[in-house]
Amino acid sequence: MLFRKRTHTCGELRAEHSDSTVTINGWVQSHRNMGGLMFIDLRDRYGITQAVILPESAPELAEKAKEIRSEFVLWISGKVRMRENPNKTIPTGLIEILVEEFEIINKSEVPPFEITPDTKAGEELRLTYRYLDMRRPDLQKKFILRNKLYQTTHAYFAEHNFLEFETPILTKSTPEGARDYLVPSRVHKGNFYALPQSPQLYKQILMMSGFDRYMQIVKCFRDEDLRADRQPEFTQIDVEMSFIEQEDILTLAENFIARAWKEILGIEVQTPFRRMTFKEAMTRYGSDKPDLRYDLELTDITHVVKESGFSVFTTAASKKDGRIALLNAKGCADFSRKQLDELTDYAKKYGAGGLAWIKFIDGTINSPIAKFLTEEEMNAIFLNSKAVDGDLLLIAADEWERCFTVLGALRTEIARRIGILDQVKNSFSFHWVVEFPLLEYSPEENRYVARHHPFTAPMIEDLPLLDASPEYVRAQTHDLIINGYEVAGGSIRIHQNMVQQRMFDLIGLTKEEADQKFGFLLNALKFGAPPHGGIAFGFDRLVMLLAGTDNIREVIAFPKTTSALSLMDGCPSEVVDSQLRELGIALRK
Ligand code: AMO
Ligand code: AMP
Repeated sequence: MLFRKRTHTCGELRAEHSDSTVTINGWVQSHRNMGGLMFIDLRDRYGITQAVILPESAPELAEKAKEIRSEFVLWISGKVRMRENPNKTIPTGLIEILVEEFEIINKSEVPPFEITPDTKAGEELRLTYRYLDMRRPDLQKKFILRNKLYQTTHAYFAEHNFLEFETPILTKSTPEGARDYLVPSRVHKGNFYALPQSPQLYKQILMMSGFDRYMQIVKCFRDEDLRADRQPEFTQIDVEMSFIEQEDILTLAENFIARAWKEILGIEVQTPFRRMTFKEAMTRYGSDKPDLRYDLELTDITHVVKESGFSVFTTAASKKDGRIALLNAKGCADFSRKQLDELTDYAKKYGAGGLAWIKFIDGTINSPIAKFLTEEEMNAIFLNSKAVDGDLLLIAADEWERCFTVLGALRTEIARRIGILDQVKNSFSFHWVVEFPLLEYSPEENRYVARHHPFTAPMIEDLPLLDASPEYVRAQTHDLIINGYEVAGGSIRIHQNMVQQRMFDLIGLTKEEADQKFGFLLNALKFGAPPHGGIAFGFDRLVMLLAGTDNIREVIAFPKTTSALSLMDGCPSEVVDSQLRELGIALRK
């Protein structure tokens, strides 16, 4: 008989099953012929079970078993018995199956890499053979965890009276933020749909329809530069609510996160989470998503050195929003010249013009800029940064956001180099960053662009600044940060037509452009829009954090590489000419 259906999974059998006759189905993890005994470890997604053949009492079975190789698919029937040498590291380790019958259901070629937790195979090979990679129990565990998060999410939001909607995947292109993925229309040649970067406008429109609590686990598509925590298609838990204040969104999100951490990891998370403004996050940690599992705070020393004899500092201080600040790299005074040069190069990657440093070592000061500073200035620097013997101070002078961003990047790099990241790797820190600037100036486009998106409401108290200095207007935004990852972002939205028009105006859209792109929204806003706001969680990033990995591709079944390729099925790919012709498309040479 070629196939016999399992009575148990490979993860199920325990001591109490002793003496019962069972059948299991699965893949051969390993097989060992010890002469007097033959062992087969059979694997499925539930676990691994050992089966044993005694060649002396079952010579035919033993002969047939010689054919078995790794990854063959088998059914095995036999009697459960206690092992002589129990394996305490696996749940089925107390028992084994004494094989009475078995059959090879299907053979396997020699796999291109070992299907083991510690496989040495490179990621490219594993992605090409993703179906084999996904047989590995450590990867399977991540997808089982991902599933738990789907369940927790649906349950939590259903209990809070949220309605699920499916919003379209073929949508209108409204470039703002990342680049769109376009889909040509066959029926309307020359016209294109865009894949949604997020369901932002649909969920706002649903608020205007009166569905005051919406949620969706939804795919989003962004054609942007990829990194370890970014994919061109990724999943959001998208949420929107009406008749609420920002605080309601934060509370709902905090309780959701606490529930997920409790249900999935058994970890009790303290709520409410710490809240800090964008300004505070930047000036204390040099990032809009600081990792707060460790301290390493920055110190602004502009007031100390703005009139010093060092022209780099005085020039920076005299510029609009110019700042001089430092990172106290605790205990790093023994860094070599080479290490300091590396840090300088690192800082330059983040736009620094240079990096000044001061070592405080064995009671003496070692610094290329010491000669430009007076004793009082030096003392004040030490006092402000709480520097003690053995510390290294890294100083940047620049326009404030660049100055602090550079130091924030160095903060992470120092934490990595001196082993802090290793020390904190099993802990979690949760906090909000609120009050982001509404706009930022884009020199390339020579206009303001929305920092979050152009539907975000400004803070009421900053409205008077909107005309004269829009760059200082803060928005009613909230980003949720876990361990330095932005895992969710959202805002209170504009719900008045006039304000929305004003916002489009600020980001340089003419009335015609605004109507052409967002006319449907502007219209909907005329017919009684409730005050509303929401948030979207990066689902994959949450799974990453829960699973303890820093590679988003480990938690997505069929991910793209950092150059947006799918190695398994080989997309994107060329299409035949007839397909293009039908769409009215000719390729540019
Ligand atoms: P935002 O653009 O901040 O907000 O996205 C929300 C969250 O989605 C995750 N995320 C990503 N994850 C993986 N790969 C990517 N390329 C990627 N881009 C974003 C992040 C992020 O915090 N419509 C708004 C939400 C709102 O205002 O309600 C939005 O999409 O974790
Ligand atoms: P320079 O005058 O360019 O030779 O620089 C003298 C010192 O100032 C060097 O240690 C530089 O690394 C440092 N430096 C230059 N630009 C900056 C800057 N923007 N911020 C901090 N230090 C700087």
